[in-house]
Amino acid sequence: MPLAPIVTIPTPRLELVPLAAEHLDDLMAVNGDDRVTRFLPYDTWAARQDAEAWFERIQGLTEAGATRQLVLQRRSDARVVGTLLLFKFDEASQRLEVGYALAHDCWGQGLMREAVQAACAHAFGALGLRRLEAEVNPANLASCRLLQALGFQLEGTLRQRWTAKGHSYDTHLFGLLLQDWQLLHPDAAPVENALRHPS
Ligand SMILES: CC(C)(COP(=O)(O)OP(=O)(O)OC[C@H]1O[C@@H](n2cnc3c(N)ncnc32)[C@H](O)[C@@H]1OP(=O)(O)O)[C@@H](O)C(=O)NCCC(=O)NCCS
Repeated sequence: MPLAPIVTIPTPRLELVPLAAEHLDDLMAVNGDDRVTRFLPYDTWAARQDAEAWFERIQGLTEAGATRQLVLQRRSDARVVGTLLLFKFDEASQRLEVGYALAHDCWGQGLMREAVQAACAHAFGALGLRRLEAEVNPANLASCRLLQALGFQLEGTLRQRWTAKGHSYDTHLFGLLLQDWQLLHPDAAPVENALRHPS
């Protein structure tokens, strides 16, 4: 069964909504910036065609059912300031991977933490998942800090896992379990799936 579609995930300052073609102009400012793509495995977008090629690829992945590409739309001005990807859905293990990127002028305001926190709540709640993962370049201190602040645990370092942009590098694997989340958020609504996936 494919991953359930996501209509919207609200946060205090953002709406997380599914990617649409109308978001590409704003996303040029996100992925067209070397500071944003520095630790990401793809090249900085140089032209609108790069955005369109990415959009087509994401559409294919979305249709295949294991990927949901959300964007972060700021409530104050409706600008799309970032992306949040839920991907590599494994139905049998009720597991997903998370990836994200934020426009450089929005860094340091806690926006991505707000977005990832809401996405985790949705994943463990409405989607009924039991494990979330994230892969991070160990030099990407902001991303490591963000995940750890949300309760993700560093589970190991995979040596030279990726080769991109001309060099190979290690990857930290972070994991967050439903049971970790419930300990951190005891007031969260009980999740039926917890009964089906005892630890
Ligand atoms: C990683 C990223 C999403 C963080 O977004 P953000 O909204 O600025 O993050 P937040 O403000 O919510 O939290 C970042 C945390 O890292 C800390 N931080 C930021 N830069 C840091 C640095 N160089 N060293 C250590 N900690 C750092 C912040 O202080 C904050 O921690 P705190 O809340 O305890 O103070 C953003 O930097 C980004 O888009 N980077 C480029 C894309 C990317 O690398 N994506 C992740 C791929 S795994």
